[in-house]
Amino acid sequence: MSAEQPVERTLILVKPDGVKRQLTGAILARVEAKGYTLAELKMVNADRALLEEHYAEHQGKPFFEPLVEFMLSGPVVAAIVEGHRVIEGFRSLAGTTDPTTAAPGTIRGDFGRDWGLKVQQNLVHGSDSVESAEREIGIWFK
Ligand code: TYD
Ligand code: MG
Repeated sequence: MSAEQPVERTLILVKPDGVKRQLTGAILARVEAKGYTLAELKMVNADRALLEEHYAEHQGKPFFEPLVEFMLSGPVVAAIVEGHRVIEGFRSLAGTTDPTTAAPGTIRGDFGRDWGLKVQQNLVHGSDSVESAEREIGIWFK
């Protein structure tokens, strides 16, 4: 891809399982090692309203309420990360949603698995498009 492409921004979260397991540094190290830039970084105790807005696209799905409860279970680390094609680049670093089958070499594939809990605890969130990145950055970095 050409260097003339605009630099993208994405919203990355280290979810409560990642923070509790002390994987924040390991996860952010992979982001930085890939060559992306941490533009903003903070630890947040999110409230229900923020999380329901963040996951609005999933409202009404069976995993929505357990997902919000899980995200309320501890602090999360929120970051704005910049780089060319960082949105798809971070999704690739993170691996697929289900940590049991996420490819080895990815964050979810290397550190995550099914712990027998109701909701998938898969360590990280990354925006999935330019539009959701801007929407989510507006929610977490008001
Ligand atoms: P989704 O946006 O589909 O996945 P991703 O985080 O890979 O973009 O879903 C948001 C989160 O909801 C996901 O990270 C884990 C949880 N989830 C479940 O618990 N069960 C499910 O069947 C799905 C699809 C998601
Ligand atoms: Mg998603």
